[in-house]
Amino acid sequence: MKFETPRPASWQTCLGCGNEATELDPHSRCRFCGGLLEVSHRAPDLTSSELRARFSQRARETSGLDASGSGVWRFRELVLPSADGVVSHPEGNTPLLHRPALDRWTGVHGLLLKHEGHNPTGSFKDRGMTVGVTQARRVGATAVACASTGNTSASLAAYAAQAGLPALVLVPAEGVALGKLAQSLAYGATTLLVRGDFDACLRLVEEASSRLGVYLLNSINPFRLEGQKTIVLEILQQLAWEPPDWIVLPAGNLGNTSAFGKALREAKDWGLISRLPRLAAVQAAGAAPFARSFQEGFAVRHRVTARTVATAIRIGDPASYDRAVRAIRETDGVVLAIDDDEILEAKAVVDGCGIGCEPASAASVAGVRELVRRGLLDPAQRAVAILTGHILKDPGILLAYHRDTEPPPPRANRPIEIEPELAEIEKVLRR
Ligand code: F0G
Repeated sequence: MKFETPRPASWQTCLGCGNEATELDPHSRCRFCGGLLEVSHRAPDLTSSELRARFSQRARETSGLDASGSGVWRFRELVLPSADGVVSHPEGNTPLLHRPALDRWTGVHGLLLKHEGHNPTGSFKDRGMTVGVTQARRVGATAVACASTGNTSASLAAYAAQAGLPALVLVPAEGVALGKLAQSLAYGATTLLVRGDFDACLRLVEEASSRLGVYLLNSINPFRLEGQKTIVLEILQQLAWEPPDWIVLPAGNLGNTSAFGKALREAKDWGLISRLPRLAAVQAAGAAPFARSFQEGFAVRHRVTARTVATAIRIGDPASYDRAVRAIRETDGVVLAIDDDEILEAKAVVDGCGIGCEPASAASVAGVRELVRRGLLDPAQRAVAILTGHILKDPGILLAYHRDTEPPPPRANRPIEIEPELAEIEKVLRR
C-alpha cells in the first residue's frame, strides 16, 4: 500500500520493501517482509525560525503539556505531532557539562558531555519510552514487553506503571547491573531472567509479542526512536542550533545511532541546521559486530557472541543494523571498538570529576580520545559525548574497581576501615 496525497500527519514505512502503514498500525515489523519500520512525518507548515521559536517558547510555558517541562514533547512536531494522551514523567532537559579533567584526558578543548543519566529512571531510554508507551495506549495495547540489558526494562517498567499497563521484561539471567534489575522489580514489571544472552532475549520477546499480542517496546519499535531523536534536538537547541563537529555515542543494539542519524537528517531537511555533525558510534571491543562491518565498508553484517564489562552494550546481533548503517553513511560517521580497560579508565575519569556514569556510557568518552589519537578529531573542534546512563545503575562494578580488584587499578580509591578513634583519622590524613 502507498498513501496518496494529501499525506497524514505521520505514517510508517518499511525500510526493506517500502510498504507503508498507518501511524496506528501496531505491528513491530513490516507485515509483508519483516523489515524494520520507520516513522515519517509530513513536513511542518512552519518555517525553521518559527519552529525554533516555538521550541524555545514551550520551554517557558506555565500550563498544559509543556508546563511539565518534557524535553521530548517540546519537539513534538518532529516526534509525534498528532500524539494525544501523552504518558510523560517528564523526561529530557538533561545538562551539557564540561570538565577540564576530561579535556586533558581526551585531548579535546571544551569537550561537552550530554548527561542522559539525569533522566527520571537514570538513562536515555526514558525519551523513547514516553513516546513508546504513549503509542501503546493509542493503539489500545493491553500489555507491553521488551528484552533488555537492563535500562530499557527499567524505563519500560516505570512508564508502564504510570500508564497502568502490565509490563513483561526479559533480561539475561546473568549480567544485568544491580540497579537496573532492582528498578524493574520495584516498578512492578513481571521480570523474566532468561538463561541466555540479550540476543536470545530479543528473539524470544519478538516471538512472544507476535504470538501473544503483547505490544513490543524494544527499539525495533520505531516510535521509541522518535523520542530518542530529541537527545540530538536538545543538544542543537542548547548550542543555539550551531551543530558541533562530532557527536560521539555508545552503540549496542544501534537504536540510538539510528535515532541520531534520523534526527540530524530531518533537522537539516527542515532547515533547523545547515550542516551535519559527524557521528561516531562506539562499541566495546568484545561486542563489536557493527565496528567490524564498518571496517569492511558494511559489505557484510556480522554477528558475534558478545563479551564486555559494559553490560548495557553486551549485544552480538544488533537489531537496528540497517538503520544505523544509513546513519553512519549519511553523516560521514565512523564506528570504533574500544577495549574494556580503556572504557573503565574513561569511566574512572568521568566519575572522578564528580559527574559519574555507567560503564557503557564511558565508551563515548574513550571514543573521543581514540578519535583524537587517530587524527580524525582536531582538538580545536567541538565534540559532544553522550553519557547514556547514571553512575548508580551499576554499583557492582564500582565496588569491584575501587574496593576489590587486586592489584588495585590506577585510579582505585580504596575504602579504609578504622577503629572509632580520632587517632585513626589523623593517621589516615598524615598519609
Ligand atoms: N548506553 C546504555 C547505558 C544503554 O543501556 C544502551 C542500550 C546503550 C548505551 C546502547 O544503545 O542499544 O541504542 O545502541 N541498552 C539497551 C537496553 C540495549 O536494553 O537497555 P543502543
